[in-house]
Amino acid sequence: VEAAHGLGHRALVFVGFMGAGKTSAARAAAAALGAKAVDSDQVIEERLGTTIDEYFASHGERAFREVEEQVVSELLESPPSPVISLGGGSVTAERVRAALARHTVVLLDTDADTAWQRAGGRRPLARDRARFDALYDERRPLYERLADVVLPSSAREVVRRALPAARELPDGAKLLWATTASGEYPVYVGAGVRSLSPLAGRGVTVSDRTVAELHGPADVLVDPGESAKTLANAERVLRDLAAHGLDHDGHVVALGGGVVGDLAGFCAAVYQRGVPVVQVPTTLVAQVDSAYGGKTGVDLPEGKNYVGAYHQPAAVLADPAVLSTLPQEELAAGWAEVVKTALIAGGGLWKRVRHGEPAPDRNLIVSCARTTLGVVAADERDGGRRQALNLGHTVGHAIETVTGYTRYRHGEAVGLGLLAALTLSSQPALRDEVQNLLEVAGLPTRVDADLDADAVLEAVGRDKKRRGGKVGFVLVDAPGRVRTGCAVGDDEVRAALAELAR
Ligand SMILES: NC(=O)c1ccc[n+]([C@@H]2O[C@H](COP(=O)([O-])OP(=O)(O)OC[C@H]3O[C@@H](n4cnc5c(N)ncnc54)[C@H](O)[C@@H]3O)[C@@H](O)[C@H]2O)c1
Repeated sequence: VEAAHGLGHRALVFVGFMGAGKTSAARAAAAALGAKAVDSDQVIEERLGTTIDEYFASHGERAFREVEEQVVSELLESPPSPVISLGGGSVTAERVRAALARHTVVLLDTDADTAWQRAGGRRPLARDRARFDALYDERRPLYERLADVVLPSSAREVVRRALPAARELPDGAKLLWATTASGEYPVYVGAGVRSLSPLAGRGVTVSDRTVAELHGPADVLVDPGESAKTLANAERVLRDLAAHGLDHDGHVVALGGGVVGDLAGFCAAVYQRGVPVVQVPTTLVAQVDSAYGGKTGVDLPEGKNYVGAYHQPAAVLADPAVLSTLPQEELAAGWAEVVKTALIAGGGLWKRVRHGEPAPDRNLIVSCARTTLGVVAADERDGGRRQALNLGHTVGHAIETVTGYTRYRHGEAVGLGLLAALTLSSQPALRDEVQNLLEVAGLPTRVDADLDADAVLEAVGRDKKRRGGKVGFVLVDAPGRVRTGCAVGDDEVRAALAELAR
C-alpha cells in the first residue's frame, strides 16, 4: 500500500462539516494522484448493510458513533487509499483524533449558511437549523485544531492546484489556501516555513534595517518605521531592484512588518508592470493582518495609503518564532489587530481572545489569517464585505493622520478606533470589555486631551470622500456580527472622540 500511494503512511484525510464537499474534494485529490478515494460513510454503510439514515433512526446516534469510530480508526490505521474522506462527526472520537496525527488532515472550510443549503433537511443532524448552527459552532474549533491544511473550496481545480503544497507540507506547519478573484496562493504558518521556496527563480529580498539585522539577509534596505512608506522610497527600492537585475523570472521577497509588506508589495506591483511578491511577515500586525489580501501602497502627506495597488502575494510565509525579537510595544500593537479580527470572527477566536492575551502562537495566527482571508475571498476590492476588515480603522486612520503618523503606532490607533466604533455601535459593555483587553496588553485606551477633534472629523470626511462618499462606518452588533457601510453623524463621531479623551 505504501508503495502504491507513495506517501509512506501519510494519507490526505479530508475532514469538515456536513455539506462542506469532502467527498468530491477527496475524489478530485485522488484522481490527481491516480488513485480512488475512500469515503468513510460509504464503508460504514457497507458494513452496516443499511444506510446511515436508517441506522440512525433505528439505533440512535450513540450506536452509530461506536460503529463510526471503529470503522474510521481502522481506515486511519492502515489506509486503503492515499486519500480518505471522513464523516463530519467522526472527529469527535478521541481515538480518531489520535489516529489523525499520523496523516495530513485537510479541512474543507465552509460557512454555516452554505453547509445548510447543501445538507439542510438531508442528514439526520440537519433537520433543525438552530441545532445545526450550534453543532457547527461546536465543531469548528475542533476541525481547525486538527487541520494541517485548510482549503476554502471543494472545486476540482482548486483541490488540484493546492495538492502539491499540501503533500509537501513540512512537519509542524499549517497551510491555508487563499483564493481571491485574481488568484490563489498558499499561506504557510509555523516554525521553519521561512526555509520554503514556494516560487522558482531568484528572489530579491526587501527589508528594513532592524529586521534585516535580526532575521536577514536582505538585498534592499529601507529605514524602519512608517516614514519609509513614501513614493521617494518606492523609487529608491525600484531602482535597487533594477540594480539587482530583477526581471520577470524572479520575484520580490518582502521581509518585515506591515511597512515593508506595503512598500515592497507596491514596488512588486509596478516594477516592470508587476512581478510576484512573497510576503514574509515579521510583526504580529503583519502575520495576522497586513500580509494577506494584496493591499499594497505608500503614504502621501495628504493621507495614509494614498498611492497603491492591489497585488496579491504569490505566497505568505509566517513563522511565529520571528516574533520573539519583537519589542513589547509592537507585539501589543499587533494585539489590537488580533482583537479587531476576533470581533469580526466571533466564535472560538473571540472566546480565546476575550479570556486574556494568548501568546501569539501558530493557532492564533492561523485563526486570524483564516478570518481575514475569508473576508477577502468574498470581496477582493473593498466593494462591500471586505470593509468589515476596516473595523476600527475609520477613526484609527484619522487619528494617525492628524497626529502625523508619529504619535501612535498603527495598531495602537486601531485599538483607539475600535473603542470609538464600539461607542458608535452603542455597545457599552463590549466596549468596556475591549478597553480592558487593550489595557491589559499595555495599549492606549485614551487619546491626549489636546487631540484636535475637528481635525479628526475632517480626516474621517476626507477618507470617505476618497472612496466616493460611499464608505460608511463598520459597526458591531455582537462579536461575529458586524455591519459595513453604516451612516454615522458628525455629532456621534464627536461624542465618541470625547469619550476617548475622557
Ligand atoms: N496592507 C494592509 O492590508 C495593511 C493592514 C494593516 C496595516 N498595514 C500597514 O502596516 C503598517 C504597520 O505595520 P507594522 O505594525 O508591522 O509596522 P512596521 O512594519 O513599521 O514594524 C514595526 C517595527 O518593528 C520592527 N520589526 C519588525 N519585525 C521585527 C522583529 N521580528 N523583531 C524586531 N523588530 C521587528 C520594524 O523594524 C519596525 O521598527 C502600517 O503602515 C499600516 O498602514 C497594512
